[in-house]
Amino acid sequence: MSSYDVTLERVGGPTRTIGIDERETVLEAAQRAGTPLPYGCRTGACGTCVGRLLAVDGTASVDADAAEDGIDVADAFAYRREPRALKPRHRDDGYVLLCIATPETACRVAVGSQVQSELVDNPWK
Ligand code: FES
Repeated sequence: MSSYDVTLERVGGPTRTIGIDERETVLEAAQRAGTPLPYGCRTGACGTCVGRLLAVDGTASVDADAAEDGIDVADAFAYRREPRALKPRHRDDGYVLLCIATPETACRVAVGSQVQSELVDNPWK
């Protein structure tokens, strides 16, 4: 059984690194550690818990050229079930549903309601 350090960076707020078991979702681990994250359905359907992958292993940054760099959410997380709230282009942009995502490596993730606002405010992205 492995555990990975996942750093949660709240936009405009505190940053917290949590050791997350590979069988645990980011949301479950954050709640265990007393770090509140927004959530709704806990099934991958509503998108309330969305985060955005910033970097894998603390080195490689994820940006608009992520696909060209060969870095994507699948390098950092596995899903317990289909992330229905995300369109393929959202996944390509690094968005991840933290209620159903379990870590596969150390990484940094932007979290909080502002990340969800990015997703909702720009439907053409
Ligand atoms: S809480 Fe609804 S998709 Fe995660």
